[in-house]
Amino acid sequence: MRIPIVAGNWKMNTSVAEAISKVESMKGPLEKIEGVDKVICPPFVSLFPLSNLLSSSSIKLGAQNVYFEEKGAFTGEISPLMLKDLCTYVILGHSERRGYFGEDDELINLKVRAVVKAGLLPILCVGESGEEKKEGRTEEVVGRQLRMALREVSLQPGLVIAYEPIWAIGKGIAASPEKADDICGFIRRVLQELYGDEGKETRIQYGGSVTEDNISSFVREENIDGALVGGASLEVEEFPHIVQKVAEAKGLK
Ligand code: PGA
Repeated sequence: MRIPIVAGNWKMNTSVAEAISKVESMKGPLEKIEGVDKVICPPFVSLFPLSNLLSSSSIKLGAQNVYFEEKGAFTGEISPLMLKDLCTYVILGHSERRGYFGEDDELINLKVRAVVKAGLLPILCVGESGEEKKEGRTEEVVGRQLRMALREVSLQPGLVIAYEPIWAIGKGIAASPEKADDICGFIRRVLQELYGDEGKETRIQYGGSVTEDNISSFVREENIDGALVGGASLEVEEFPHIVQKVAEAKGLK
């Protein structure tokens, strides 16, 4: 049985003080919800204070990016070793990193390997653009992104894949749950092809304009084990509601 997982990607939002205040507000409601893994991914500078605040909490932290080298002359970069004591997960391959910062499948693969080597867990994002969807290339694109990112990576039991169609991110227009489930099913088949039956146990999230109003329809689908939430994860009441709805839809509450 796959434990559902909801992660909040705060992107480039919140000062340290705002991050602390948001987590202080969400902590109580989130901790009451059992059976769902809860992850908050704030900006790097807030990881340290939040790791103290959440040291004995069931809420886990994730980073939004990392470099693949362990240390050295890489001005401005953060290494997996620096993150290891501060968080559990690292978001990799997000379409904003691919699009704005030119990250390609090869770089993402180096990052996945470095993260796994450091004992951290990737939340690996894959997803097609609106144009690729129109051209009927979703499976081709998502399949390539997965196979390249996971090249020479042994199966990590805690690995998370996030299916995020680029056209649905931050737009207020989510994918249809049935269509998202189809692609998550495809992802599961690729994982099985790469890792055998154990690969099928990997958790797959949907991401793209998830809110408290549409989350239930996604996680009721067979292949969707949770969500990667952007905008709505910054809302201190809505984010715990989303997690609660996941618990309800999966029959945990
Ligand atoms: P959104 O972002 O929920 O604001 O659409 C999702 C994401 O980019 O992870």
